[in-house]
Amino acid sequence: MKIIAHRGFSSRAPENTLAAFGMAVEFGVDGLEFDVHLSKDGEVVICHDEAVDRTTDGEGLIKDFTWEELRRLDAGSWFEPRFVGERIPRLSDLLELVAGTRLLLNIELKTNIFPYPGIEEKVIQMVKNFGIVNRCIISSFNHHSLLRAITILPELKTGALYEADLFKPWEYAETFGAAALHPEHHSVTPELVREARHRGIMVNPWTVNEPVHMERMIAAAVDGIITNYPDVAKQVLQNT
Ligand code: G3P
Ligand code: CA
Repeated sequence: MKIIAHRGFSSRAPENTLAAFGMAVEFGVDGLEFDVHLSKDGEVVICHDEAVDRTTDGEGLIKDFTWEELRRLDAGSWFEPRFVGERIPRLSDLLELVAGTRLLLNIELKTNIFPYPGIEEKVIQMVKNFGIVNRCIISSFNHHSLLRAITILPELKTGALYEADLFKPWEYAETFGAAALHPEHHSVTPELVREARHRGIMVNPWTVNEPVHMERMIAAAVDGIITNYPDVAKQVLQNT
């Protein structure tokens, strides 16, 4: 079971910053999950929320800031004072950081509130330029976005994010060619994993933070878990 660090090592460092990603890489995770948006001038930037208010010292929507404005915000001190000076990274900054690794990258397109026209093309062009298409999974709660991505690059792996349970999600994934299901972990069952695997579809649940839930995911034989606590997950895996 792969351990995928949710927003980086977000239990130890400010989420979606190079500090959190660097910490996860150093710890030895199998993959990184993170969220992308488009700035006013079309830069692909990494942040969870549509607005910068919760995780920086600024206020407002990412889509209303230029990259020059976003890069000046402090994205670290809200978490702990020692992270003062951490910045909102661009996707290209993270891709440079992990260029020499074999890490799986789960890039979540946050197109569920604002559509960010052109974000699929930009992200795909960037992962192609870095030569890392085969170790990326593009996920989204907006499955139209995933279909757009597959249409642009058919060999791209996509992960369908969903929260409430679905009826036969393995059949649903096949209707638009999703390579993976990314369910909220409570809806994962051994049947889901079995049916998905039978069709060559991966199952990577989120956000699995409690040991008891990690054990359940291991027992269900999921492909990977997305967690804020890669250290706990590694321990649980070792003890299983
Ligand atoms: O990709 C799994 C998880 O990150 C989805 O929810 O809100 O944390 O982006 P959220
Ligand atoms: Ca996410």
